[in-house]
Amino acid sequence: MGLREMNVANETGQMTAITIEQVGRYDGQEVTLKGWLYNLRESGKLLFPIFRDGTGIIQGVCALKENPEAFESLKGLTQESSVIVTGKIRAEKRAPGGYEIGVSKIEIIQRVPESTPFPIQLKEHGVDFLLDQRHLWIRTPRQAAILRIRAEAIRAAREFMDGQGYTLTDAPMFTPAACEGTSTLFEVNYIDDQKAYLTQSGQLYAEAIAMALGKVYTFGPTFRAEKSKTRRHLTEFWMLEPEAAYVEFEEIMGLGEGLVSAIVQGVLKNKSRELETLKRDTTKLENVKPPFPRISYEDAVAVLNKNGNPAKFGDDFGGDEETIISSSFDRPVLIHHYPAAIKAFYMQPDAQRPELALAFDMIAPEGYGEIIGGSQRIHDYDVLVGRLREHRLPEEAFQWYLDLRRYGSVPHSGFGLGLERTVAWICGTEHIREVIPFPRMIYRVYP
Ligand code: 4AD
Ligand code: MG
Repeated sequence: MGLREMNVANETGQMTAITIEQVGRYDGQEVTLKGWLYNLRESGKLLFPIFRDGTGIIQGVCALKENPEAFESLKGLTQESSVIVTGKIRAEKRAPGGYEIGVSKIEIIQRVPESTPFPIQLKEHGVDFLLDQRHLWIRTPRQAAILRIRAEAIRAAREFMDGQGYTLTDAPMFTPAACEGTSTLFEVNYIDDQKAYLTQSGQLYAEAIAMALGKVYTFGPTFRAEKSKTRRHLTEFWMLEPEAAYVEFEEIMGLGEGLVSAIVQGVLKNKSRELETLKRDTTKLENVKPPFPRISYEDAVAVLNKNGNPAKFGDDFGGDEETIISSSFDRPVLIHHYPAAIKAFYMQPDAQRPELALAFDMIAPEGYGEIIGGSQRIHDYDVLVGRLREHRLPEEAFQWYLDLRRYGSVPHSGFGLGLERTVAWICGTEHIREVIPFPRMIYRVYP
């Protein structure tokens, strides 16, 4: 028995289940698929079901004459009923995915009652409705493809970071103080009336771990009480945060380029079917390889002015500004040397021009905005204490962080990559709420 047959039939001759993703390897063979009925078109003595199993969709054909029993089971079956389907796979150019299944047997695991039909039909629905039904919406092919691309982005990111000699580690979710500004902190009533906050970034802890392990990265959820109602903001999002001892500004920018390129190339290579489901124009992603263009903050202001935008030194860039700057490049652009005054307290000042911070943002193409924010960190004790005071941050809460500058302080750098913004750009979605299974936004914590 050849390897192919062995995969399909077990010793008793019963069909072994395969996934829809694998059907290309089973042309002409009888297989079993475990999934759900996605759609059913009836045409007299022929039924054209579409099945889905989470890995893809496949069109089926069932004729009354050839398979009366299967025909009767399938006829009138409701959308999203769970089914185990057996039949022969055959190449069919016109079918989505290039194959179809000739249904010979169907076992219904649960029939969705006619009285309570699946709420999401194969037509356009409003986004508020879909978000209320998010637990069901994720079953649709487009949403499933996005979540699979998200998984590949994470896999590729971790593979890259591990390959660069960075050790995965974890920062706490409950924190005693702000990392990225007090205005977006979620306060939590901790035990015995102590106050704690949900983390905005694992960075400060990653810095401590970098002094212990050298090169590290965290990857986990972070929280911002953002009152922004834009297509780029969630209140809960995932961030990958490298932090490295003895690594300075240039090197950390290079790591950011390598990481983003590895993620994009990983998705192009391993999730091409999903990108196709999304009808993503992949030519726009193929060029995403280092080196990325770099532009100083001051040059960026000049570019904005040339394009009729009134930005001046000291302004923070919003979405409009980012879109103007990124529009002249076919890959992400790094903006560096921001005014220290508009950036976080921990950023290292430039040696020649201390009014500038060794900070960079990476802006995605096609209007997806900032996907990375990073910097070299202040390693000098006195400079850091000065910054804490200027930013009116509670020194008490930062004593442990100051310890890192008391005991063998070294230059070090890091950044945070926003997973959802990165995946939204790769998928070409309109809003980042689609790229996380259950989005948390300013007015939404259900379901
Ligand atoms: O630029 P941010 O605020 O940087 C930090 O938190 C640093 N402490 C990271 C570090 O150096 N370790 O956030 C980093 C990235 C942004 O570039 C963006 O991609 C994403 O996190 N991000 C958000 N994504 C979704 N919703 C929000 N509300 C986000 N805020 C930031
Ligand atoms: Mg930022």
